[in-house]
Amino acid sequence: MEFKKSQELYNKGLKNMVGAVNSPVRAFASVGGNPLFIKKAKGSKITDVDGNSYIDLVLSYGPMILGHRHKKVQKAITKALKSGYSFGASTKNEIKLAKIVCDAFPGMDKVRFVNSGTEAVLSGIRLARAFTGKDKIIKFSGCYHGHQDALLVAAGSGLATLSLPGSKGVPEGAVKNTLIANYNDLDSVKAHFEEHDDIAGIILEPVAGNMGVVTPQNGFLKELKEYVNSKGALLIVDEVMTGFRSKFGGAQELFEVEADITCLGKVIGGGFPVGAYGARNEIMEMVAPLGGMYQAGTLSGNPIAMAAGISTLSELKKQNPYEKFNEVAQIIEVFLLESAKKYGVEITVNRFGSMINPFFTNVHVTNFEQAQTSDTKKFAVFFWEMIRNGVFLPPSQFEAWFLSSAISEKDMKKIMKAIDKSIEAVANM
Ligand SMILES: Cc1ncc(COP(=O)(O)O)c(C=O)c1O
Repeated sequence: MEFKKSQELYNKGLKNMVGAVNSPVRAFASVGGNPLFIKKAKGSKITDVDGNSYIDLVLSYGPMILGHRHKKVQKAITKALKSGYSFGASTKNEIKLAKIVCDAFPGMDKVRFVNSGTEAVLSGIRLARAFTGKDKIIKFSGCYHGHQDALLVAAGSGLATLSLPGSKGVPEGAVKNTLIANYNDLDSVKAHFEEHDDIAGIILEPVAGNMGVVTPQNGFLKELKEYVNSKGALLIVDEVMTGFRSKFGGAQELFEVEADITCLGKVIGGGFPVGAYGARNEIMEMVAPLGGMYQAGTLSGNPIAMAAGISTLSELKKQNPYEKFNEVAQIIEVFLLESAKKYGVEITVNRFGSMINPFFTNVHVTNFEQAQTSDTKKFAVFFWEMIRNGVFLPPSQFEAWFLSSAISEKDMKKIMKAIDKSIEAVANM
C-alpha cells in the first residue's frame, strides 16, 4: 500500500495550514506517520488520493450515519442548491427540521439551530446561566464539549491524544466557574454542590465518546438528573455525538432521562455544519428575540444544511438501523476479544449502539482515569495494521469508532480479517 500522494499533499499543506489539518484530531500525532488525504467516499467506503480504499469507521467523526452520499440526501441537497445557498431569513425547511428534532426529544419544545456542536454547547451553557441566574458549571473529566474556553479543561480525546492538560490561551477567568467531577461518580458531583451555592448546571456526554466509549453505569444518568434538579440546577445533556446515533431519541430515550437542555450536532446535519440546542418552553423563552439571552448566526439554519439534515433524519427513521447497529457492534466486540485472547493481548472493549472501541488495557473502563491506563503504543501498531488491511479508524486510542447503516456483510468480513491481523501485529511488536 502506497501513501505517496498523501505524503506530497501533506508536505505541501504544511506551508499554509497548521499541521496540514483543519482540526487536530485529524493529525496522526499519537499513531505516527502523516495524515491521509481523502479524495472521495461512497456508502461504507472512503478512498484516499493514492487510490487506497477503506471501510470507513470514522464517518467524519459521527455525522455520516447512512454512509457517504446516500442517494436521498444527495437528491435533497441538489434540489436545495437550485434555490439559493443562504438568505439570512427564515425558510420552511427550518420549521420542518425543528419539528423532527423536537418530536425525537420529548424535553425539547423549541430548538435553535447553530453551525457546530461547539456553538450548540456554548449556547446551551449560556442558556443555563441565563435561566438559573447562577454562574458555575460542572463538567466531567474526559468529556469533550467543543473548544469554547470555559469547557476546555480535562477535555478528553483531542487533548489526551496530544498529551495536553488543557489549552494555552484560555485565561484563568474563563475557567474559574468550571468545576470538574469524575464520570460515573455522583459523590464527586455532590461534593461540588456542598461547597458552592451558585451552580447553574452540569453538562455531560450521556455516553462518553471522547475518552473512548464509556457508558453510564447503574442508573447514573437518572440519579444525576434527580439530584441536580433537587439543587435548583439544570442537566445539560450533550448529545452532539449520541443524538440520533444509537437511538432516534438519543441516549436520553434509551436511558429514559429527560435533559433540561439538550445539545445536538453531527448527525442532524448529515455531513453539513449544523448544531442545535433546545429545551422546554420556559427555558427557551429566555433566548432572543423572546428573551434576554443573546445568540445569533449569519449562516444558522443554512438551507443546504437543513435539506441534508431533513433527508438524513427522515431516511434514518425509515431505516431504523438501531437493532442492526447493536448486532454489528456485538459481532465486532466478540471478535476483538477472541482475537485478543488468541494472541495473548490484553484489551477491554466498550460499546454503545453504533459506537465501539477497544482499549489496550486490562482495566474495566468507566472513567477517564481508567481509559488512560491504555497502551497507546499498542494502539498505534493496531491502527496502522488496520489501515494496511483496508479499515479507516480514528487515529487515536481515545476516539470512538462509528458504524454506518451502509456496512455490508462483505465489509464485516474485511473488518474481522483486519482485526485479526492487527491484534497479531500488536502481539508481535
Ligand atoms: C460530545 C461532543 N460535543 C461537542 C462537540 C463539538 O462539536 P463540533 O466539533 O461540531 O464543534 C463534539 C465534537 O466532537 C462532541 O463529540
